[in-house]
Amino acid sequence: MSLFQDAVKVGGAALEMRVRRFASLIRATDPELAQAAASCVGAGATRSLLSTMRTPPVDGDTKLPLVRVEPADTPRQEPLLGTIERTEIQRVIRERQATDRLMEAGYTPVRSVLMSGPPGVGKTMTAGWLAKQLDLPLVTLDLASVMSSYLGKTGANVRAVLNHAQTHPCVLLLDEFDSIAKRRDDDSDVGELKRLVTVILQTIDDWSPLSLLVAATNHGELLDPAVWRRFDVTLNFSLPGHAQRAQLLRAHGVGEELADGIGAVTEGQTFSVIFRAVESARKQTILEDKPFDEALAAWALSVTAKPAQSASQYERQRRDLQVLVHHGRQMSAREIAEVMDISHTTVIRSLNRFHRSVNVGT
Ligand SMILES: Nc1ncnc2c1ncn2[C@@H]1O[C@H](COP(=O)(O)OP(=O)(O)OP(=O)(O)O)[C@@H](O)[C@H]1O
Ligand SMILES: [Mg+2]
Repeated sequence: MSLFQDAVKVGGAALEMRVRRFASLIRATDPELAQAAASCVGAGATRSLLSTMRTPPVDGDTKLPLVRVEPADTPRQEPLLGTIERTEIQRVIRERQATDRLMEAGYTPVRSVLMSGPPGVGKTMTAGWLAKQLDLPLVTLDLASVMSSYLGKTGANVRAVLNHAQTHPCVLLLDEFDSIAKRRDDDSDVGELKRLVTVILQTIDDWSPLSLLVAATNHGELLDPAVWRRFDVTLNFSLPGHAQRAQLLRAHGVGEELADGIGAVTEGQTFSVIFRAVESARKQTILEDKPFDEALAAWALSVTAKPAQSASQYERQRRDLQVLVHHGRQMSAREIAEVMDISHTTVIRSLNRFHRSVNVGT
């Protein structure tokens, strides 16, 4: 018993995993020993033991931190996700929360997640949400910035971060993960780079479930299929559709109808851009006394004006949004017609056109 306790203290996470595996292997033949071994390890015990260990790694030369550490209690919002992504994220959370039970039964919970998708659709936000749900700090390593420095140093830095995350429970986010693939085009340092990529991939293979490894990239297509296969869970985030854009707007306090109207005309916009537009419109209300709904509708119109769009199409969208702004203020169709100096039929048509587009959805 004390042998196991001492060993776990010295060996940290990697050894703890072995003790757990050992316990599950011998459970059938020697339940007593299995019980003794299992009692020496446990997420809580290991966590408090390890939290007293080293501080986050720093660059050897500059002594600047290599990672950004955000504590487990950082306030976070739940990202809006598509059905597939949401189901997978819930599975990750469920498995991680049941680590002990799964390991006792001889299974390993999800250890690694690869998220790919365009900028501003919630990859970082999802990593943060996972950390929050698992009550772990989020440790972020930006591979793009670390890979841009001298490679010999890069290798040491990346290894230091990976080792740190393997002994300190956390969600480790390897951001801009495609940077490890991109540098292959550069023929200087090839040997060193290959070694580093091998180390990273090997580390993913041997990753201990103590921490959750999350890799994020905007360029999933640059990664080898062999890299994709190494991750337990892979997620493809895409640009939000009409319904999701409207959902985000509603979540940020935009009225139902206007949210749907703006959602309909902002095809191609990311969650991040839409969120910033809401913030900017709120600031305009404070600084310029501009009504929030008008400021937001003006933004939507500015991003919707495509070069190929005819003047009449643009004019129609402008009118539709204006009608929705008024309608959102509880004005009747007649009142709207009057203030906008258009016919009652035109107002009704605008509302109908909009309702049709909402029903069809995207
Ligand atoms: N799925 C989402 N649900 C709700 N809000 C979102 C979502 N995605 C992005 N946002 C908003 O946009 C901001 C930026 O998103 P985030 O940093 O997660 O994007 P990203 O996919 O990591 O982009 P990048 O590839 O540029 O790193 C978030 O803080 C949030 O306000
Ligand atoms: Mg990000």
